[in-house]
Amino acid sequence: MCGIVGYIGSNNCVPVIIEGLKRLEYRGYDSSGIGVLDHSKLTVIKRKGKVSLLQEIVEKDGMTSNLGIGHTRWATHGEPNEINAHPHFNSENSLIVIHNGIIENYRTLKTGLEKLGYEFLSKTDTEVLAHLIDSFLKRGHNLSKSVRFALNEVDGTYGIAVLYAKEPDKIVVARKGSPLLLGIGNGENFIASDVSAIIAHTNNVVYLEDGEIAEVYTDRFVTKTIAGMPIDKFVEEVSMTLEEIDKGGYPTFMLKEIMEQPESVLNSIRGRLLEETGDIKLGGLTGFEDRLSKVKRFIITACGTSWHSALVGKYMFEQYLRIPTEVEYASEFRYRDPIVSSDDAVFFISQSGETADTLAAMREARSKGALCLGICNVVGSTIARESDAGVYIHAGPEIGVASTKAFTSQLIVLALITVLLARRKNMSLEEGRALVKEFNSLPQRIQEILDKNSEIEEIANHYKDAANFLYLGRGYNFPVALEGALKLKEISYIHAEGYPAAEMKHGPIALVDENMPVVFIAPKDSTYEKIVSNIEEIKARKGKTIIIASDEDYDIEKLADHVIRVPKTASILMPVLTVIPLQLLAYHIAMKKGLNVDQPRNLAKSVTVE
Ligand code: F6R
Repeated sequence: MCGIVGYIGSNNCVPVIIEGLKRLEYRGYDSSGIGVLDHSKLTVIKRKGKVSLLQEIVEKDGMTSNLGIGHTRWATHGEPNEINAHPHFNSENSLIVIHNGIIENYRTLKTGLEKLGYEFLSKTDTEVLAHLIDSFLKRGHNLSKSVRFALNEVDGTYGIAVLYAKEPDKIVVARKGSPLLLGIGNGENFIASDVSAIIAHTNNVVYLEDGEIAEVYTDRFVTKTIAGMPIDKFVEEVSMTLEEIDKGGYPTFMLKEIMEQPESVLNSIRGRLLEETGDIKLGGLTGFEDRLSKVKRFIITACGTSWHSALVGKYMFEQYLRIPTEVEYASEFRYRDPIVSSDDAVFFISQSGETADTLAAMREARSKGALCLGICNVVGSTIARESDAGVYIHAGPEIGVASTKAFTSQLIVLALITVLLARRKNMSLEEGRALVKEFNSLPQRIQEILDKNSEIEEIANHYKDAANFLYLGRGYNFPVALEGALKLKEISYIHAEGYPAAEMKHGPIALVDENMPVVFIAPKDSTYEKIVSNIEEIKARKGKTIIIASDEDYDIEKLADHVIRVPKTASILMPVLTVIPLQLLAYHIAMKKGLNVDQPRNLAKSVTVE
């Protein structure tokens, strides 16, 4: 959610931190702040709003130092304003703290600290940490020990970074439930909550695990557990490039990410299709195929868009593998004492690999003995590292807050897993080969849809002032309806609902009149005739229909106010195509309303609080 970046070395840390914060802004963008340590004096500048506002004031001020930390915030406790923005000082202004996560027992800690005479300026849980660490410094402990002792008293989640004026040679960082990594440079080191913040400077990183703390100096780092046990950490090389996290000539990250789907889908299938044998190769599942073929039940848990891909996964697994598959919101799964055992395999789908609820659901399933499998985008993310096995979707960095290319790549990976296991069951060589061909032709077919961008933009002109939208689909395309509605509401703030098309008769049809746009996802598949009847029902009530239809379906014209055509593919892969016009429709409607699609209000990429 929030973003952390820091620098220690011989260069000026301020531009490094501001640049890093801009790259992290997609994680939280209601306020930001920077704190630097220079000649044993800590200086902090904070601003409500965008990092660019912080940058303006920092540049005007001429702030400079070789050591500093910065933060971009997504408010949890206390409204977004300058006082609540991070860093937070201790009372003597000798220590600053930035923090991602939530301190759950902050009220109790605050009351205790107030009794000791500490005064609080902000409404945040983070300020508690500043005073708590201070209380241990006052007892004569050094910074690292004081941070460890303070964190021992904390319930909740944190990724933190601390500077202390009396120990001006280091940044102390720690993590529990909120990502944090060190970037290792040459005579300089970095800290960040996300590798994209520091990739311009180094590809060498050290991922902290939960319960670990690090002292970061100019030329070295020391890692321990929060309990104080020394631990050795390995430096890993990450392959992300700077170009991957730039806009590449597009006006927004969202459009760039929609447009690069032929490539991201290609990356998801690359090296995984065996054309001759109609088989699939997934290195991350090697050695687990037998166990997976024998499980009694699959469970898939996720949140948001990833939950929609999980729903498509259920249709795939049940149709081809005949293994009962339950799909559950991670936030519900984790708290309801779910019935899970070693007979089950549980998939955790997460673009970021850091979503707090999905991670907690995984830990719950693991404690009950289930096989835990991650489907993640971010390489080295917590879910990817903690799962028993898994498959990376390889969509590349997704910066736009609204998920687009990660969704299509998640669908690809779920389909790959389906075919992999189905070939071990009863899928024939011919069917395997035919599906492999379909996978291979997807990038070209996606491109054909993207080429209709201006046609879709024209349709958006008619609906930018709509107050509500309905999205309806059946079978594989029912979750696509949910996803289309989510895309529209999160970036355009238009209320939208997705339903299985037939379910519409059981309530939502009451909303339909001449002002209600209804988007139907109606490619020619086994549910086609049925959905045509549903379209007739909407037309009879004067609803406006936007129909996602198959290329060769000309009969549909008479029922449609607008048609967007998609090429044919196997039903199992159809959602990869049908969702693309919906992404573009939501995008253009939001842009025509003049909204910031990359950073919609109230949202954040990677929800690391529950
Ligand atoms: C919607 C969106 C969110 C995420 C959800 C899960 O466009 O991006 O709904 O899908 O927060 O995030 P991950 O996949 O990172 O676990």
